[in-house]
Amino acid sequence: MSLLPAAQLADLVEGEPHAVTVGDTDVVLVKIENEIHCIRDLCSHGQVPLSEGDVDLDDCTIECYLHGSAFDLRTGVPTCLPATEPVSIYPTKVEGETVLVELPEQGDNA
Ligand code: FES
Repeated sequence: MSLLPAAQLADLVEGEPHAVTVGDTDVVLVKIENEIHCIRDLCSHGQVPLSEGDVDLDDCTIECYLHGSAFDLRTGVPTCLPATEPVSIYPTKVEGETVLVELPEQGDNA
């Protein structure tokens, strides 16, 4: 695992998807209350960026703009069709003002 800087806390707006590339991986950061969630920026259904979709603060999900599947930001699991496969999620950590994301080493399964 590698812990890599992804953003500054001040960059994140509550409930707004924040797309960023960490290492070679495109991810979306979403701040909800005091939690920062990180999910791969790629829908498992049609390979489009999840960062283009809307966040549901109550359900803690992000919705794919193309066909409307929502993914739980805590687990990556889709909560409705048409997507059936989960999207990778990554642990986050805040150090000072910096948001860090823990990514698998290259060659590990994401
Ligand atoms: S491309 Fe995301 S639900 Fe179809």
